[in-house]
Amino acid sequence: MTNKLIIFDTTLRDGEQSPGAAMTREKKIRIARQLEKLGVDVIEAGFAAASPGDFAAVRAVAETVKDATVCSLARASENDVRRAGEAIQPARSGRIHTFIATSPIHMQHKLRMSEDQVVERAVAAVKWALEYTDDVEFSAEDAVRSEMDFLVRVFDAVIQAGAKTLNVPDTVGYSIPAAWGERIKQLIERVPNSDKVIWSTHCHNDLGLAVANSLSAVMNGARQVECTINGLGERAGNASLEEIVMAVRTRRDVFNLETRIDTTQIVPTSKLVSSITGYPVQPNKAIVGANAFAHESGIHQDGVLKHRETYEIMRAEDVGWNANKLTLGKLSGRNALRQRFTALNIEFASEEEFNAAFQRFKELADRKHEIFDEDLQALVSDEAIAKVSEHYRLLSLRAHSETGILPVARVVISIGNKQHEAEMHGGGPVDATFKAIEHIVHSGTELQLYSVNNITSGTDAQGEVTVRLAKGGRIVNGQGADTDIVVASAHAYLDALNKLHDNLQRAHPQL
Ligand code: KIV
Ligand code: ZN
Repeated sequence: MTNKLIIFDTTLRDGEQSPGAAMTREKKIRIARQLEKLGVDVIEAGFAAASPGDFAAVRAVAETVKDATVCSLARASENDVRRAGEAIQPARSGRIHTFIATSPIHMQHKLRMSEDQVVERAVAAVKWALEYTDDVEFSAEDAVRSEMDFLVRVFDAVIQAGAKTLNVPDTVGYSIPAAWGERIKQLIERVPNSDKVIWSTHCHNDLGLAVANSLSAVMNGARQVECTINGLGERAGNASLEEIVMAVRTRRDVFNLETRIDTTQIVPTSKLVSSITGYPVQPNKAIVGANAFAHESGIHQDGVLKHRETYEIMRAEDVGWNANKLTLGKLSGRNALRQRFTALNIEFASEEEFNAAFQRFKELADRKHEIFDEDLQALVSDEAIAKVSEHYRLLSLRAHSETGILPVARVVISIGNKQHEAEMHGGGPVDATFKAIEHIVHSGTELQLYSVNNITSGTDAQGEVTVRLAKGGRIVNGQGADTDIVVASAHAYLDALNKLHDNLQRAHPQL
């Protein structure tokens, strides 16, 4: 058995299934480039059949990425598989990942198919996929609640049909480590020719066990792990890439496995994904949380100062902390900014967009002494830069708060070519700002989440605001960043409205 562990990243597919985390093609490309730099083996770029936009995004990632396999998900239907095949066609190395549910509950209530029909469809899907690539992965959805004998039968059939990777998902996050490891072990023992394929695992985090279950699978023979940056994903998320990679690396004595991951790229990747999706990272999150390497108690600090290993099992710099070097300042020119953007894998579709970014950079540098890479990432995540021709645009904002007086905000926005203004009171300046925007827009949306995080430290840091809006079954996350959090909030709110206005329609793979 090989000692190489394949890291299959599904941030752009399962991660994208988190509420409001849908990404545009440009944003997927930025994350895919960073994943390539991180060194993942496989990038699941999306579900090509979901919509024309998803198809275009998978194809664009396939055209861009050179040093990783680019994969599209496909239900086990001819149309899905063919769309996936067309989308990955430009990839230097392309994979189709097809799946069908194998548990009694899914087969009976969702698919309304018999066991025989499921096996027949799984085999057909693998054969359609082989017309496009010889790198075909098959997943038995809800394997955790599937009967063992039936799983063995399905996996045997798809190996005979030509699948090279067999994925065993805990779709609903139900398993516990010992049982999951045992399931993988039994499958490898019982499925004929199991040594000719790669066994993979894909765990959800509903019981907080996704990483533990994945590692247990690895200890029992799985050689591919499907995971996401920051554990982003459906419901409670997927197994977190950074935790799996660092567990395998830190406990080489237990796993004796190698990955291709450049661990110093972990924190930059985490920050990029968080800022693009609007999902903040909790401070005490392992590896990538702001406190993950902070020692608070005097005894710990004393110990670390005397001998680092007393309380540290990993080094912060090995996962990319402290890499946020001071980059630019007020006197930096266009060339310096352009070079820094290039180093961060950020490209602009036009000179007009770069000019808008340069303008924002100068405004920021006037208010903030030191500009870090994270500030530049946030600057371009702000849709005000990314889309010069957006529908709703903030032109100006004045907010007033004073003890004993009801806060008030006056906003001026453009909608298309028309300028509108409104002034409203609110519980605080942010509330007043949102009320003033709504007074103009009458969006009929429900505000589901409002959160503020500082991008770097210090009181002059930019606040990064996420606003989640829901309307008619659609959920979007809007983001804005500014040293003034009221302004950042207004940008985030308008960003969410712009996303709703863009009206991206897509199907969900598991429906
Ligand atoms: O959770 C799941 O079962 C999936 C499959 C499509 C692999 O995401
Ligand atoms: Zn999943």
